[in-house]
Amino acid sequence: MTSSTRNNPKQAAGEEAARLVKDGMVVGLGTGSTAAYAIKELGKHVAAGLKILGVPTSYQSAFLASENGIPLTTLDEHPVLDIDIDGADQVAGFIAIKGGGAAHTREKIVALSSRKFVVVVDESKCTGVLDHTVPLEILPFARKLVIKQVAELGGKAELRMGVNKDGPVISDNGNFIMDADFGTIDDPAALAEQLSQCVGIVEHGIFTKIDAVYIGKKDGSVGITSP
Ligand code: 5RP
Repeated sequence: MTSSTRNNPKQAAGEEAARLVKDGMVVGLGTGSTAAYAIKELGKHVAAGLKILGVPTSYQSAFLASENGIPLTTLDEHPVLDIDIDGADQVAGFIAIKGGGAAHTREKIVALSSRKFVVVVDESKCTGVLDHTVPLEILPFARKLVIKQVAELGGKAELRMGVNKDGPVISDNGNFIMDADFGTIDDPAALAEQLSQCVGIVEHGIFTKIDAVYIGKKDGSVGITSP
């Protein structure tokens, strides 16, 4: 465990993970408030001379990276990244549920394109079992079929509605987002496989390949776990 003087757990986790990024790396830039702390910290390192390229996982992270002076690249230019730092909505062991910001499709593509995928969370996100709703990015045309398939898997899927926008949330890829409630998820890896088989689901928010979890604590320390 490392310790610091920061007393915001998300900030502590994000800033600590940013220390993993070294000169010359291509870095996946996650989405959400915790990943934003990592991006801002990387911006400070870039201003101090660090040479990196970032691959954003959303408009949010692209805008934030630009505002903080981080040069961007694409997966076409750099299909293999050195590291990806991203938040999560819930973590149990080394499986996470992501997509609270509707960005999990690009987040998963970037995570699976990276040699090292680091999840940054505050300690309230870490639980013994996963019971958070599972975000689904779906093709609008398949909405009713997705509801049916999720029900067959024992879940209940609801369309995510916009805030300060009438109608459904539209993802950065132009799709709908649904949140599927499965109650307690006893076998998240099996559910991930089943959701991947559903027609009309572009991507689900269960992430099963995590290399390290940085857990920010209330006292400003950061616990680091890896499989
Ligand atoms: C976005 C995500 C976020 O990483 C997740 O929702 C966590 O967000 P925050 O760090 O703001 O709590 O998956 O799609």
